[in-house]
Amino acid sequence: RLGGTAALRLLLAAHVAAAFEPITLGIAIGTASVLTGYLSYTELFCRFAECCREEQPLNASGTAAGTGERLFGQHLATEVLLKALTGFRNNKNPKKALTLSLHGWAGTGKNFVSQIVAENLHRKGLKSNFVHLFVSTLHFPHEQHVKLYQARHSRWIRNVSACANSVFIFDEMDKLHPGLIDAIKPFLDYYEQIDGVSYRKAIFIFLSNAGGDLITKTALDFWRAGRREDIQLKDLEPVLSVGVFNNKHSGLWHSGLIERNLIDYFVPFLPLEYRHVKMCVRAEMKARGSAVDEDIVTKVAEEMTFFPKDEKIYSDKGCKTVQTRLDFH
Ligand SMILES: *[C@@H]1O[C@H](CO)[C@@H](O)[C@H](O)[C@H]1NC(C)=O
Ligand SMILES: *[C@@H]1O[C@H](CO)[C@@H](O)[C@H](O)[C@H]1NC(C)=O
Repeated sequence: RLGGTAALRLLLAAHVAAAFEPITLGIAIGTASVLTGYLSYTELFCRFAECCREEQPLNASGTAAGTGERLFGQHLATEVLLKALTGFRNNKNPKKALTLSLHGWAGTGKNFVSQIVAENLHRKGLKSNFVHLFVSTLHFPHEQHVKLYQARHSRWIRNVSACANSVFIFDEMDKLHPGLIDAIKPFLDYYEQIDGVSYRKAIFIFLSNAGGDLITKTALDFWRAGRREDIQLKDLEPVLSVGVFNNKHSGLWHSGLIERNLIDYFVPFLPLEYRHVKMCVRAEMKARGSAVDEDIVTKVAEEMTFFPKDEKIYSDKGCKTVQTRLDFH
């Protein structure tokens, strides 16, 4: 466990180290900007190379547009994320990093959202040098592999040129070894600096299927009471934080992050209904540049399986298999 913990820290440092500046390109562009005299060195440089712009706010309209086009049935998540991110980015002097924990069944749009958020914070999105994606089953499959990974990356750690507003995304939190995530606790805490680097402007996003059952239960209660649009964050947030803390397979089991209130928002992703699945199919057709054929939309949506057994309200895979089913048709 100790080995894994140290490795996680090293990995984090290594990803920060990757944000280096291509000096040769800098000199070339600097020369060009002196010659043209139109743009400042920085402006011109940042057109060609990716820059870490500390003061850059969230592109709120881009985020809203992105979620409007690609995310369905998630009025809670959309609202919370927009507010949290805009507020955090407009705060010149945050006291700690922003930490968001996204929960819900597969296929409800958690990955989509983190992609949209990344794109609207850093131009190159997930490909940005300042956005770092960790996938539990890929990066931390076994303790012994974690050590291997550590050795491979330790040489990266010496060159640290950090970007204060980096984004760190941890996918498949529910498959992470219990306790491993607490290794990043110092980065999320109220410290001014760690090894000379401030993490207070960084954003940490955790994605997890854990808590999906609790969200569904609450959503069903509202649905059965005929109040399904009335569901609010305060109906779900306390349930989620307690639920994942007590769940051995949540990645946050007995986690110090929760005990110390270091997670700013628990963001629930609601289960998707038949009509939402249809919206996903239409969006996917548009994304492929084809006309929307309602017959096929209905066919694809009807092939999905819905639960609970009697009422058949929610798609059990969300929109996850929409793409492959559309290929078939
Ligand atoms: C790290 O620094 C070494 C030299 O100190 C250099 O050769 C290497 O390219 C650098 N790597 C990164 C990722 O900046
Ligand atoms: C914000 O996003 C919108 C939609 O993606 C885009 O048209 C616009 O250029 C972006 N604004 C900035 C400042 O990047």
